[in-house]
Amino acid sequence: MSSCEMEKEIAIVGAGISGLLACRHTMEKGFNPVVFEARNGIGGVWSSTIDSTKLQTPKNYYQFSDLAWPLSVTETFPDQSQVMDYIKSRVSELADTMHLPEEPTQKHLAENDDERMTENGEEPGNQQIQETEQNEVYQVDFVILCIGKFSDLPNIPHFPQGDGPEVFSGKVIHSMDYAAMNKIQAVEFIKDKRVTVVGSQKSALDIAAQVSKTNGVRHPCTLLFRRVHWSGSKNLVRLTFRNPNRFSELMIHKPQKGLILWWLVFLLSPLRWIFTKLVECYLKWIYPLKKYNMIPDYTFLKEIYSCMFTILPDRFYERVEDGSLILKRSQKLCFCTTGVIIDDEVAPLETDIVIFATGYKSDEKISNIFALNYFKKCITRSSTPFYRECIHPRIPHLAIIGYSESPATSFTTELRSKWLAHFLAGKFKLPVIKEMEEDAKRWKKCTKKYSGENYKGACVSVMLQIDCNDQLCRDMGCNHKRKKWFLSEIFSPYQPADYANV
Ligand SMILES: Cc1cc2nc3c(=O)[nH]c(=O)nc-3n(C[C@H](O)[C@H](O)[C@H](O)COP(=O)(O)OP(=O)(O)OC[C@H]3O[C@@H](n4cnc5c(N)ncnc54)[C@H](O)[C@@H]3O)c2cc1C
Ligand SMILES: NC(=O)c1ccc[n+]([C@@H]2O[C@H](COP(=O)([O-])OP(=O)(O)OC[C@H]3O[C@@H](n4cnc5c(N)ncnc54)[C@H](OP(=O)(O)O)[C@@H]3O)[C@@H](O)[C@H]2O)c1
Repeated sequence: MSSCEMEKEIAIVGAGISGLLACRHTMEKGFNPVVFEARNGIGGVWSSTIDSTKLQTPKNYYQFSDLAWPLSVTETFPDQSQVMDYIKSRVSELADTMHLPEEPTQKHLAENDDERMTENGEEPGNQQIQETEQNEVYQVDFVILCIGKFSDLPNIPHFPQGDGPEVFSGKVIHSMDYAAMNKIQAVEFIKDKRVTVVGSQKSALDIAAQVSKTNGVRHPCTLLFRRVHWSGSKNLVRLTFRNPNRFSELMIHKPQKGLILWWLVFLLSPLRWIFTKLVECYLKWIYPLKKYNMIPDYTFLKEIYSCMFTILPDRFYERVEDGSLILKRSQKLCFCTTGVIIDDEVAPLETDIVIFATGYKSDEKISNIFALNYFKKCITRSSTPFYRECIHPRIPHLAIIGYSESPATSFTTELRSKWLAHFLAGKFKLPVIKEMEEDAKRWKKCTKKYSGENYKGACVSVMLQIDCNDQLCRDMGCNHKRKKWFLSEIFSPYQPADYANV
């Protein structure tokens, strides 16, 4: 690395898993990054979750490439405290070298308009980082935003005046507030109350399961949702994670592959169909999906392509069967004094508490961090996806790690952190803006094609993971074939540990 590159000042915003990985890999390349974190500690979303939260990803896919889980963690899906201990073990290992703030620091970006990258990809000037409270300004050459997608800015549906929570006599909170309560506070909050949970993804399912377990049939919990998703058992997730190998990726059309691979995808497509149907039949067999009208109107494959597949909480349908959990589909919802009115039903659903497990406004959160409208628009204008899932072609002096969803987020973010560290160290150059935009658009088109109506933005699908990693390896100038033998190269799954020495 040239002395000029070594002098680059790098700021990392956020000390969740993505920020820690970015910090580690840039330091490994000789940089001295400054990390800003708004909370009191590291770990991001893992620092405060609902009591029952466990990894949804098998642990060998959710690990740092060069740090195996301790032998004491025997579970495939460790719980929140085990995940936090694992993250902390990495930080303590790096304690002497890592520059984490002693005091929480909230960061805000204030770039100058004329510092934007030019069309041919010339280097921009410095960026200014402002710590809002002390108004201290840092001048840096490159910013790595690792502020997370699933925290801080809740998505709560908008209601017309008179139809919203203001007319309701009970309590309305977001899943984020519920997750911030400790176990005792959470039980006190819901105990013997009629609770309605809105949403049908992981937070909603987990909270609804927890409420129904606490309150039983005396005060059944109602789960209100507009769409049904495929969600399944831990065994199914274990099986799915045995599949991501080069052979299964041959069943997917990827951008810029030749005619032979195109034909191979065509020839192997019956296998893809058989796998989908087998999984769907299995799920319908183990859960009473038909009885409760819970069969999604799209295929299981679309669920996993769009990074939306979740693990169903233990004994979920047993609680539905015993009446402590009521499943209710609804397209329209408004509040009245005693509860909520669903669709055009005359009688309200009487309830004491409504918990919106309706996700987060992740684009808005990222765009809010910029002072300049141009950059805000770049982020919210979703037609321009990110190059290599981390650099917006029009903001190439800044990377966003952890923005793209994946079934094994830490795997995806670690490879991108390594890639970024190589880039910052001058090991390769970014293409010009137009080329980056075209490449990113090709990948977006591919993900969109397979996710169908489920497409919700940046996602490195389980079926594209290896090919995306190959691209990053080629950019970094290292061998993308990481296995020793031909057959294992084709048939054994790729995991973080395969990239330990990249
Ligand atoms: C409950 C839960 C469970 C999950 N389970 C899984 C799983 O099993 N498998 C999987 O692959 N993914 C899972 N995910 C997705 C998850 O988001 C990632 O796995 C990962 O932990 C995210 O890490 P991150 O560092 O990108 O973001 P975060 O963990 O959100 O960290 C972002 C950090 O940035 C800080 N920050 C934000 N804004 C600012 C600012 N302006 N200034 C300074 N600091 C700021 C925040 O305080 C936070 O510490 C889960 C998500 C949630 C919410
Ligand atoms: N490991 C774990 O145990 C764990 C636990 C919790 C969360 N997580 C992860 O954290 C991330 C966030 O999960 P999340 O469940 O909080 O959010 P999410 O995945 O974004 O799901 C939001 C849910 O809210 C619904 N919704 C959004 N707007 C709505 C509206 N206006 N009206 C009605 N419903 C609306 C969505 O419905 P549609 O489906 O119809 O769009 C969806 O079901 C995910 O990656 C998840 O896997 C993991």
